[in-house]
Amino acid sequence: MPAETNIESHLIEKRVFKPSAEFKRRARISSFAEYERMYRESIARPEKFWAREAKDLVWRKKWDRVLEWKSPFAKWFVGGKLNVSENCLDQHLHTFRRNKAAIIWEGEPGEKRTLTYQQLHREVCRFANVLKRNNVGKGDRVIIYLPTIPEAAVAMLACARIGAVHSVVFGGFSAESIRERISDSGAVALITADGSHRRGAIVQLKNNVDHALSGGTSVKRVIVFRRAGNEIHMEPGRDIWWHRELEYVEANCEPEPLDAEHPLYILYTSGSTGKPKGILHTAGGYLVGIHSTMKYVFDLREDDLYWCTADVGWVTGHSYVVYGPLAAGATTFMYEGAPNWPEPDRFWRMIEENRITILYTAPTAIRAFIRWGDSWVKKHDLSSLRLLGSVGEPINPEAWMWYYNVIGGGRCPIVDTWWQTETGGIMITPLPGAIPTKPGSATLPFFGVDAAVVDAHGAEVGANVGGKLIIRKPWPSMLRTIYGDTERFRKQYWSEYPGEYLTGDGARRDKDGYFWIVGRIDDVLNVAGHRLGTSEIESALVAHAKVAEAAVVGRPDEIKGQAVVAFVTLKGDAKPKAELKTELRDHVGAQIGAIAKPDEVRFAEALPKTRSGKIMRRLLKEIATGQTVSGDITTLEDFSVLAKLREEE
Ligand code: PRX
Repeated sequence: MPAETNIESHLIEKRVFKPSAEFKRRARISSFAEYERMYRESIARPEKFWAREAKDLVWRKKWDRVLEWKSPFAKWFVGGKLNVSENCLDQHLHTFRRNKAAIIWEGEPGEKRTLTYQQLHREVCRFANVLKRNNVGKGDRVIIYLPTIPEAAVAMLACARIGAVHSVVFGGFSAESIRERISDSGAVALITADGSHRRGAIVQLKNNVDHALSGGTSVKRVIVFRRAGNEIHMEPGRDIWWHRELEYVEANCEPEPLDAEHPLYILYTSGSTGKPKGILHTAGGYLVGIHSTMKYVFDLREDDLYWCTADVGWVTGHSYVVYGPLAAGATTFMYEGAPNWPEPDRFWRMIEENRITILYTAPTAIRAFIRWGDSWVKKHDLSSLRLLGSVGEPINPEAWMWYYNVIGGGRCPIVDTWWQTETGGIMITPLPGAIPTKPGSATLPFFGVDAAVVDAHGAEVGANVGGKLIIRKPWPSMLRTIYGDTERFRKQYWSEYPGEYLTGDGARRDKDGYFWIVGRIDDVLNVAGHRLGTSEIESALVAHAKVAEAAVVGRPDEIKGQAVVAFVTLKGDAKPKAELKTELRDHVGAQIGAIAKPDEVRFAEALPKTRSGKIMRRLLKEIATGQTVSGDITTLEDFSVLAKLREEE
């Protein structure tokens, strides 16, 4: 157990923040002992624990068995039937929540909309009928390429209502990325908008879709929501307007009772090799996991105004903007645009104006706010906030302290939540009324999460020894497979330590058992809280006519966490000019999306390789960060390469 006092020492690791008496008084789990007791029970008897949690939801048919585990395949709530949209909407209509705000939204240009549960239910039913009218049925895949507007939630919930499987593609991704996801998922329909607002400009969503679909794909229907009013092309026979379609449909649509293991969505995420992985989540277990974390981690109260700043295109947007809060009957705040538009106080202004009580954001945003200066924050009254959250990457202790003092006024607990697209929901996290926090640590595992740090042989390491983070038991919101590639699923997550889930992160535990995540151990970068596979960026570079070979590494970056550095060798007659660097950056932007654009492109005559031909990224990393190359270079095939790379600096 951490010590009793609040601020203990000037050594960062020693600072411990205990939940305040005020917070504890109203918290769901209000003591460390209670957390420990429940955690122990959840690990000793997971089925009993999760069955109890599942009873919070509405089931059309009760499950026969809580878990069927044939490693690495899990089935949760086997035999049970439910509908996720019914749980997020219909169940609230029989309660006082009927006229409670489900979504409060603000567009970047400043428009405001509020949808009550009743209104959201109506919109979802109508849109579900639009999908049906357009031959989208149970099991069909649907791509959603929308900005963070209420219609994104409507589209997701409408799919869930009829048993269609959505795959949301982040609005910052390019035509090429959309195309790849359509082809992998075999989607039959696509839902998009004409455009979206970002930093005062219009993102041409529909135009990107047109490029993605040119030459033909499995997509038969494109439903277009009018958002930005920009001029677009509508392809006859393929493209239809959302608002026109609504004229043809009724507002009644019964939720389809679905097997607990019916797929809810596919969300693509980067891996260290090959194309993005379609992470598959299923209805029952996912919703139980999300609902449970929502309740305990955010310690939700009926009158909270909860804001998770994630875009709906990422897993955080799925679990903690849409499904989690709505299943819990909360009011979820949504914002479409950039945090510094029109000025760097946009977030603080919205918190003040709406009296937001819970803020869940990412370290990369926090670091940007720090850089923009405290004066933007100080202009606003943030006294409505009572709880803060962080997700996406390790939060630096100093950024944590700033978040705690400047945003939280020294009053709000911070929940630093570790999880992944694959885990579906939060896995390692403080419970705000129970677990003392330490800046930079995600603290302790959530209920039912058997997390451990192990060595190469799978043996648990001692206190403060680094190792690989694994999860030793199945949990309800876990991924079920990689869509269409079970072999990759096995190999990627379950082969290194058979029967145990490999997270791909490195971590250590301190003497109190607290987890300190140190980041990825594979070739995956974490740029502004989002995973990018180095191999994807390399493939995009190599697809350029003038590039022979490329190696991408990360360099620490004050705001983005990691910056992308690309080492590129050119084909015979191509000249290493400055303009070509810009061209290559734009090329990656067009292939993957702006987020993947290299911050730095370096031309090299050759890349350092081992005798077996593997690029020695460690050396490139050292060069990219300006360090002297250290460690073992005996396997380097050609030593002159290293000297030349140094000359290029
Ligand atoms: O490396 C970890 C980091 O983000 C990865 C998961 O990325 P993604 O699937 O895109 O999901 C992001 C939102 C859940 C993890 O493997 N990560 C996420 N949260 C934290 C974190 N690293 C440290 N602390 C966190 N709180």
